[in-house]
Amino acid sequence: MKNHDKQGLIDRDALHVWHPYTQHGTEKDPVAIVRASGTSLFDAEGHEILDLISSWWTCIHGHAHPAINKALCDQAGQLEHVMFAGFTHAAAVDLAQQITQQLGQGLSRVFYSDNGSTANEVALKMAYQYCRNKGQHKRRIFLSFDGDYHGDTMGAMAVSRGSGFFKLFEGLMCEARTIPFAATFPGDELREHKEQQAIKAFQQILDQQGDEVAALILEPLMQGAAGMRFCTPTFLRRIVLMAQERGIVVIFDEVATGFGRTGTMFAFQQCDVAPDIVCLSKGLTAGYMALSMTVVREDFFKEFEGETFNKALAHGHSYAANPLACAVALKSLELFEEENSFERIAVIEQRHNELLPTLQAHPLVEKARVLGTILAFNLVDGAVGYKSSESIFLRDWYLQHGLNIRPYGKTVYLMPPYCITDEQIDTAYDGMLQGLGQLNRK
Ligand SMILES: Cc1ncc(COP(=O)(O)O)c(C=O)c1O
Repeated sequence: MKNHDKQGLIDRDALHVWHPYTQHGTEKDPVAIVRASGTSLFDAEGHEILDLISSWWTCIHGHAHPAINKALCDQAGQLEHVMFAGFTHAAAVDLAQQITQQLGQGLSRVFYSDNGSTANEVALKMAYQYCRNKGQHKRRIFLSFDGDYHGDTMGAMAVSRGSGFFKLFEGLMCEARTIPFAATFPGDELREHKEQQAIKAFQQILDQQGDEVAALILEPLMQGAAGMRFCTPTFLRRIVLMAQERGIVVIFDEVATGFGRTGTMFAFQQCDVAPDIVCLSKGLTAGYMALSMTVVREDFFKEFEGETFNKALAHGHSYAANPLACAVALKSLELFEEENSFERIAVIEQRHNELLPTLQAHPLVEKARVLGTILAFNLVDGAVGYKSSESIFLRDWYLQHGLNIRPYGKTVYLMPPYCITDEQIDTAYDGMLQGLGQLNRK
């Protein structure tokens, strides 16, 4: 792209495009990306930018993967789309079969939609209707962890109220309460205390309103948008078992954690629990297509069967189970085998862990932590808030130095594609630390 073409693009963008999570009154021009390959994005001037957050945590195998490109083209030549009520196709059935096999735990039914928010929205509606179909009309409250983020649609916002993004919409939300999240990090001396307090608070809610709760939805092991906050598997397990003992549907939002991010295919596999519903998106199509799934157990599904439409789930999207998206997701699953992705994931985790002592010794860093391929830390005395001035400064500095690292609030993190090379990891660490050195702290 020539320079004047680039400026033309930015000008037209400024005239016609409304970007997500963007204050157009203050935001700088967006970066025009013209191509991508592996871990790298290339801008209009040919500058390489390492995509160290996998483009909003999606591109698990890297950008423009030749094998996924081929799967996409092959599928386009065969069947690009068909409505999914009253019709089916091989890519959707194969994908549902493969995902349910990987999930295990009796999670055998896939409902398709097209992004993480809708996967969760569907799960909440399902949980509510499941209770209604069983005659449990009192169950209408949703619970989530404080700080959880489950998406931007109405129901998802209600169970994300602890994220702080949606105060404006409080009046529109359905009934939802938050329970404390016992966030922790290596060397956290208060971990046990925080977990006990959180469990006590949860018990109180169960004692007061347990019979009115339809579902608990949670981000397993890692709260992403809250600032990469991690909890222990034992804490999570305890919470899940307490909820399930009270007949509460437990929804695992694995939109961000799924597909190897936390070191296992799904985060719940580290917790020795069986969720009632699992929601998947983001890594599902390796950053290629909009697709999501809400996966439930067969006995749960059976509660929606009947002789009239009343008991059926009245929900559907035009692009549900889009064949192109399903074909891409199938290829992405195959790549885990073909490219030994879990070996790479283990290497990334090991490298992150090797960097921990350096981070822990850094005067501007606190709560350095690693989970699978995710490395995160907080800035000492950093300001909270999605777009704190330091987070914007760092984001811009990193971008100018060829790194797509987008700190938010006081949290800096890396979440690279699994194809990242050792050299690129070194570049990422060096750049990340150099950026910290540019912070103007008095
Ligand atoms: C845990 C979690 N759930 C849901 C969502 C919403 O997904 P989407 O942006 O695809 O609607 C996100 C997005 O970041 C997420 O991190």
